[in-house]
Amino acid sequence: MRKANLGSNNLLSISELGSQGLKHLLFLTASFDGKFLPEAQNALLGKTVATLFWESSTRTKLSFEAATKQLAGQCLNLDKQGSAASKGESIRDTVETLLSLRTDCLVVRHSSSGAPSQIARWVDVPVINAGDGCNAHPTQALLDCYTIQSHLGDLAGLRILIVGDIRHSRVARSCIVAFKMLGANVSVFAPPTLLPVALESWGVELVQDYNTALERTDVVYLLRVQKERQDEAFLPSLKEYNRFYGLTMARAKFLKDHALIMHPGPINRGVEIDNEVAELENAVLTEQVANGVLVRMAVLYHLLAEEN
Ligand code: CP
Repeated sequence: MRKANLGSNNLLSISELGSQGLKHLLFLTASFDGKFLPEAQNALLGKTVATLFWESSTRTKLSFEAATKQLAGQCLNLDKQGSAASKGESIRDTVETLLSLRTDCLVVRHSSSGAPSQIARWVDVPVINAGDGCNAHPTQALLDCYTIQSHLGDLAGLRILIVGDIRHSRVARSCIVAFKMLGANVSVFAPPTLLPVALESWGVELVQDYNTALERTDVVYLLRVQKERQDEAFLPSLKEYNRFYGLTMARAKFLKDHALIMHPGPINRGVEIDNEVAELENAVLTEQVANGVLVRMAVLYHLLAEEN
């Protein structure tokens, strides 16, 4: 299989990837789904992928590790807690240390927007953004596109409603770019305090009536209320949030039969999604996690092994 010319040796954002790159990675993901590409089985043999997680994660970190191992690579995992960062080592020196250990690729999560891009300027191995501040989470957007595509086919013309903390969400930022790139119509619904300042420039519709929007949508994508990024009082209370913005069973009844319920995880049960809703057949949250391994295999394969 020939490598698409994606213009960069890193994966830092969906916009840098472009429509051609996005479609190519979704194509590779589909090739990994169900069966291995024969030439990919040992694609990362002799290669080392380092995960550098300066912010907590379960899904992203473990799925990068699983993806590396599926392709016969080695994984070095470094979390901020327990690393020499607690003795004052800088991120630059930490990166240098990982390179000295013959790392072939860095997967970076950081609470500061732009940290993976800065690291990419220091090194000559591929850097993958595994989530930076409120900025971007490109592999999450890829796995979400793939999950929607595997249920509903081509995203072109689909209606996707994103509900919740748009303001602080790197997932929303990356997903909106990716969904629109694939031709979906994206709308958002959120408390006014959790909308970004320049929403007009995002090319999305702002929903006023939640129930009507639920009736029309093909996908409802719920965002986590990010208590850790809220240094001001953005919400009166979580109970209040659930009352007006949470997907309750009563609200889920407005959805069409085929409509998907999605959430990047981790979920706040009883806040953005009710327990019974998370268990519905159309709630594909665990499938999103499983697809995360396939998507990350595709990304690693593309950056480290795919032929030009
Ligand atoms: N969706 C997501 O990024 O989850 P983690 O924080 O567990 O990686």
